[in-house]
Amino acid sequence: MRLIGTFGAVLAPLTSTQITVELSQTYQTMDGFGFSEAFQRSNQLHELPEDSRQYALDLLFNTTSGAGMTILRNGIGSSPDSRSDWMATIAPQNPGGPNAELQYVWDGDDNSQVWLSKKALEYGVTTIYANAWSAPGYMKTNGNDANGGSLCGVSGAYCQSGDWRQSYADYLVQYIKFYQQEGIQITHVGFLNEPELSTSYASMLSSGTQAADFIKVLSPTLEAAGLSETVGINCCDAEGWNHQGQMTNEIRNAGAEDLLSVVTSHSYTSQPSNPINTPHRVWQTEYADLQGAWDENWYGWGGAGEGMTWANRIFDAITGANASGYLYWIGVQGGDTNSKLIRISNGSVSPSKRLWAFAQFSRFIRPGAVRVGISGGGWNMKTSAFLNLDGSVSVQVINSGGATSLSIKVGDMTGSTVTAWLTDNSHDLDQIDAEIGSDGTVSGNVPGQSMVTFVTSS
Ligand SMILES: *[C@@H]1O[C@H](CO)[C@@H](O)[C@H](O)[C@H]1NC(C)=O
Ligand SMILES: *[C@@H]1O[C@H](CO)[C@@H](O)[C@H](O)[C@H]1NC(C)=O
Ligand SMILES: *[C@@H]1O[C@H](CO)[C@@H](O)[C@H](O)[C@H]1NC(C)=O
Repeated sequence: MRLIGTFGAVLAPLTSTQITVELSQTYQTMDGFGFSEAFQRSNQLHELPEDSRQYALDLLFNTTSGAGMTILRNGIGSSPDSRSDWMATIAPQNPGGPNAELQYVWDGDDNSQVWLSKKALEYGVTTIYANAWSAPGYMKTNGNDANGGSLCGVSGAYCQSGDWRQSYADYLVQYIKFYQQEGIQITHVGFLNEPELSTSYASMLSSGTQAADFIKVLSPTLEAAGLSETVGINCCDAEGWNHQGQMTNEIRNAGAEDLLSVVTSHSYTSQPSNPINTPHRVWQTEYADLQGAWDENWYGWGGAGEGMTWANRIFDAITGANASGYLYWIGVQGGDTNSKLIRISNGSVSPSKRLWAFAQFSRFIRPGAVRVGISGGGWNMKTSAFLNLDGSVSVQVINSGGATSLSIKVGDMTGSTVTAWLTDNSHDLDQIDAEIGSDGTVSGNVPGQSMVTFVTSS
């Protein structure tokens, strides 16, 4: 079938840039894209007026009008109360020792994260990652869930009260069970966040070796609870890619790497530039321009909050560092910085182009998609390609040069259809024209300083 679009007249075969997709060359399998609403940000989203709330949810999760995100990273609380933006623990009272039974308090709401998780599932989100920033204070060397300290019982962390590793594992399993009661299956659990950093809020220090000491307790605890098939262990959400590489080596040397599901890292202190040495899937689970003033633009001067900057970051993590998942820090919240993708202001919400950068990938690279080979393209172009489980092939083109026409050969696509989707300074994932010739070659246009995703399906 030959689809003639309105761009047909301006397709100039003589200057067209050639790209070839190699479906037989396969790389990592994708889990998806996402964000977090931890530290009570879910409450901000939940409390919006009905129409703004619906708009924000569609922007995040909808596969026809939004980004179609597929991973939600929830925060497991450790704090004694909900002051400031803290996340309260489900076991606030010290039971008196590690062998005493924990006394749980469950409000069925968890700072609106239960509500948000249910919404996410309604939209088809497949991955709910529950991540603790710390254990409760009484399980730690410093007696406080904030200000660093270590989990009592891991190597080098001695406490008079004893070894709290089993208690912390039981606690995480109970959190997963509370979510099951609400009809939500958590798929991944993490027990550390930026374990090299001590902060005035929930934080717990750990080396890779110490993480392994706990993984060896958490894994059989999940198994005894009948959760080993449904809940994978993630580790360690280090501050940067290089340090997560080191921690992963330590976990392997301690004999606990097999017990992991996903290796998780942030990008604050080093970017995902090389694959982490592990057979497991790897996700970039948190990064944002935390301090930069709110920027809704796609491209101006290459600023840290610009959409095109983020399109490049996501691309580099997937193609250069073998990432199977990529998460921003916050999805939706108020305030004047770029720490979120969508800003709440006076009860209304506005998306940044960073959201549309995510959407260019997330809506068309669905969970289970396999990255495949691609070659050609101009020197100022980044290209990637993915084969989805439904047989559709999506091709991403980030063009930092001038406008050009493209000719993309995707194996034998005779009889297929193609759609193309553009984000630039004046488009938000808008559909543009593309056609597929009788020989199966896709042609379309890519404006300067833009990102276009082509999707073929039979
Ligand atoms: C997504 O958006 C479309 C178009 O606005 C709408 O028809 C559909 O109901 C939305 N999907 C969900 C799951 O809300
Ligand atoms: C990429 O990740 C996959 C797991 O998702 C792994 O099997 C593969 O070995 C990794 N490739 C490289 C080059 O590290
Ligand atoms: C929000 O509302 C206040 C009061 O009506 C107004 O002064 C302010 O400019 C508004 N802010 C934005 C970003 O629209």
